Amino acid sequence: MKKKVVLAYSGGLDTSCCVRWLQDKGFEVVCFSANLGSEFSPEELKKKAKQSGISKIYVMDLQKEFAQEYILRALKANAVYESKYALSTALGRPLIAKYLVDIAHREKADYVAHGCSGKGNDQVRIDTTVKILDPKLKIIAPLRVWKLTSRESEIAYAKEKKIPVSATKEKIYSIDRNIWGISIEGGMMEDLNNAPDEAAYVLTKSMEKTPAKAGFVEIEFYKGAPVKINAKKKGLLEIIEILNKIGGKHCIGRSDLIEDRTVGIKSREIYEAPAAWILIRAHQELESVVLDKDTLSFKEIVALKYAQLAYQGLWFSRLKKSLDAFVELTQERVTGSIKMKLFKGSISAASRKAKYPLYKKELATYGEKDQFNRQDAKGFIEIFSLPYREK
Ligand code: ARG
Repeated sequence: MKKKVVLAYSGGLDTSCCVRWLQDKGFEVVCFSANLGSEFSPEELKKKAKQSGISKIYVMDLQKEFAQEYILRALKANAVYESKYALSTALGRPLIAKYLVDIAHREKADYVAHGCSGKGNDQVRIDTTVKILDPKLKIIAPLRVWKLTSRESEIAYAKEKKIPVSATKEKIYSIDRNIWGISIEGGMMEDLNNAPDEAAYVLTKSMEKTPAKAGFVEIEFYKGAPVKINAKKKGLLEIIEILNKIGGKHCIGRSDLIEDRTVGIKSREIYEAPAAWILIRAHQELESVVLDKDTLSFKEIVALKYAQLAYQGLWFSRLKKSLDAFVELTQERVTGSIKMKLFKGSISAASRKAKYPLYKKELATYGEKDQFNRQDAKGFIEIFSLPYREK
């Protein structure tokens, strides 16, 4: 019997070459394609798969699961890597890997494969997730072993082997897209002296073309989860789609990051994530009204660690699951509406309404209705300052 492998397949040049390469090595190739919110045509994928002699292809729309089980958790944690990356690509990988494992079990395959490059984070994320979920599965990463090291050599290989690939024309940047954002790298941006290429952006209008008037959007949260936008009830996926459009118009959510990859390399990536930034900022604003200061400051530490774990592909680790449990408890009273102002790339809060505010106007006010007892302050400071007095 032929050895069977389940390949994470996008229909692009890399994975199309992977199919053929695996077939030449004697494998029966079953493919799996997930829609997490990029351009995606199931018909096209199925057609290509057929032309490539793939025995079976699973095409799945996982956008809702991605939003609910991955993005929402990261949002409640306010997870951002190295201050600038909302983790769009990183959050998608464990989900893809989880399905690779599921399908391998369904297909009784001993192998899974992917088209990740041998120097990136994605191979770490997918392999680590597979190893956590089923250490017995064998992983094949053709790009780590074959001799095709450039796009040109892959195109030549595809031609020679008559592999059906559509876009063979020069691709300037490597782009990864899902509903939580877009990652763009390569080309002239590998030179740190160059500003990002305006033409590379997909979701956001250039700052010069943003409206002269600010845009406003109100997001309602229930226990930390966005449930309404401008007073209309919507699913998270829809809210994200709407915010990507509105935010994109105002050039919200761009970042240019020199980042630290798990494999030790520093690299540069340009990100666009309008919805992610609006939601994270709005969520933080609501938390600032509702949570006490210790929970807030501890949650910042958790956010940092959470982002590192997600970035490294440790999504299914015990620590990450434990942090989820902590974060979930903190969200009990994170219910309310935040109106955000979007203007020329900046996001700010225009109004904050919380169901359980710890902000009390009668304590904060400098006006007539002040209820704070100033006389108590003197004794409090006397004792508060004790540990610090050296004279
Ligand atoms: N640097 C990002 C990460 O590690 C994105 C990786 C994929 N980027 C790309 N342009 N294909 O999560």
